Amino acid sequence: YGCKMKKLEDYVRSIPDFPEPGIIFRDVTTVLQDKDGLKLAIDSIQDLLKDVDFDVIVGPESRGFIFGVPIAYNMNKAFIPVRKKGKLPCETIEMDYDLEYGKATIEIHKDAIKPGQKVVIIDDLIATGGTIEAITKLIKSLGGEVVKIVFLMELKGLKGRDKLAGFDVEAVIQYE
Ligand code: PRP
Ligand code: HPA
Repeated sequence: YGCKMKKLEDYVRSIPDFPEPGIIFRDVTTVLQDKDGLKLAIDSIQDLLKDVDFDVIVGPESRGFIFGVPIAYNMNKAFIPVRKKGKLPCETIEMDYDLEYGKATIEIHKDAIKPGQKVVIIDDLIATGGTIEAITKLIKSLGGEVVKIVFLMELKGLKGRDKLAGFDVEAVIQYE
């Protein structure tokens, strides 16, 4: 029976040369579109937080929302969205950053985090670490304290962790 159990890796689809030649894209949609894969993914990330004392979850648009919200709901915490520039309606602070392929600017509402709040960041995947590094800066400038950063997938070869030195970082599965 045990050997029939699918692991998280079994649900991830890998697509060579997307969105550019040379990149192997780890596709999370095949995890989400399977009810057992979806449950396993959320439960696996949430398990990394079971002993963590925190106040709020922050997640980046758009795949950070997919995992951040159900875990916030399950753990009776608030969820704070970080969005691509131009989407949030109230006063924001913003940060520019580099991606594995391209550049972007993200924003967070100024009133979303109160000074001293303990923050967990959740995203589907760490590649270069640029997105989450930018988010840690936004949280810090609002007076929040990042106590843990969790991902479903880590692309180790891109050394994203190096950008997050000093933070408690964990991922459910790793790819070289
Ligand atoms: C992807 C992914 C992470 C980020 C990882 O999001 O979901 O947020 O890139 O890359 P990094 O570690 O090099 O910063 P993307 O910006 O493509 O946005 P999306 O979730 O809206 O597709
Ligand atoms: N898969 C999914 N998202 C990504 C990747 C990847 O390989 N690299 C950067 N964002």
